[in-house]
Amino acid sequence: MSITVSGLTKRFGQTDVLRGIELGVEQGELVALLGPSGSGKTTLLKIIAGLEWPDAGQLDVNGQDWLRLAAQERRIGFVFQNYALFPHMTVRDNLAFGLTVRPRAERPGRAVIAAKVDELLHFLQIVDLADRYPTQLSGGQRQRVALGRALAIEPNVLLLDEPFGALDAAIRRDLRRWLRGVHEATGSTTIFVTHDQEEAFELADRVVVMGAGRIEQIGHADAIHDHPASPFVARFMGATVELPVTLHAGRADGSGLDLSALERRALPDGPARLFVRPQDIAPRPDPAAPWRIASRTSNGAQLRLVLRHPDLGEAEADVPRRASAAEALTPDAAVRLTIEAGTIFPTDRRPGAASAEPVPLTSHKETAR
Ligand SMILES: Nc1ncnc2c1ncn2[C@@H]1O[C@H](COP(=O)(O)OP(=O)(O)OP(=O)(O)O)[C@@H](O)[C@H]1O
Ligand SMILES: [Mg+2]
Repeated sequence: MSITVSGLTKRFGQTDVLRGIELGVEQGELVALLGPSGSGKTTLLKIIAGLEWPDAGQLDVNGQDWLRLAAQERRIGFVFQNYALFPHMTVRDNLAFGLTVRPRAERPGRAVIAAKVDELLHFLQIVDLADRYPTQLSGGQRQRVALGRALAIEPNVLLLDEPFGALDAAIRRDLRRWLRGVHEATGSTTIFVTHDQEEAFELADRVVVMGAGRIEQIGHADAIHDHPASPFVARFMGATVELPVTLHAGRADGSGLDLSALERRALPDGPARLFVRPQDIAPRPDPAAPWRIASRTSNGAQLRLVLRHPDLGEAEADVPRRASAAEALTPDAAVRLTIEAGTIFPTDRRPGAASAEPVPLTSHKETAR
């Protein structure tokens, strides 16, 4: 099923929770909705499921107007965050539930349901759990069963709202790979919500970055990583160092910065902001430079340097501890900062403006530092 969302808005009381969502999901695609808490991810999912209704906008699935359909007519598989299984039912009965509650005319016979459940148990590799109760399962096993229950009804669309949210990192990684396999085998159109970047990028065909009720960017992992469309996306993607620069004839200039690695682009002259990841800042000793190393800590692999500028305040840089240059990077050393990759946005002078026009400036990153 292909899903087309257009002009979708939703307001709860005084809060605009969705502000004009435009999104197309192709048949068989796995799309991740990525965004901070409160950005409207669950609300969008609930509207697609028919559990919530928009104030305006359209939702078409395979050309059909889904806003005219009740939730049960849409045949959605939904896995909620921390979705509780029915505690008094075995895994087998939990999986069968969605089929047994169908209206009599559509309900498969008992033998058909049993065969379907067996097939799912094998497919999801949980055969040995079939007769257990939910309290006898680990968190990861419960999430597999929850997904199985959503798949049992052969959904038109599969909606997963942070299904691995409560689990630890190693189990999440396993389940991610497992889910990708399940998705490839079923070919179902899937929307997966997460606020974990790594999870979104590893799982999804395309990632949709949401911020405060708007879609900030849609794209593949590399494009979002290298060319964030707005300061919001740049920050969300880890470009947490922001430095003022001046643009002149397509070149950026900043105090104590070497910006020659950034590509030259057609940019308006004037003040701008540079967004950089700490690992894309390479401090080099230079007695004439204005930056000083304020502190140096190590996590074994990486040095984290806090850098201080007399006018601009502090910035952080992450440097591989074993890099040959690392030895000279000691507290109080004067350094010039080579910026290996970053994104520049012209300063938006309109008061209260949310995001500037994107003007990405990404370098070809050096392999060694
Ligand atoms: N039924 C409701 N009534 C009033 N406000 C609501 C309701 N549901 C959600 N909201 C508000 O809408 C905003 C978006 O909520 P939503 O649950 O969609 O966010 P989210 O992106 O899923 O966040 P999280 O990552 O924390 O799950 C929040 O500010 C939330 O408080
Ligand atoms: Mg949510």
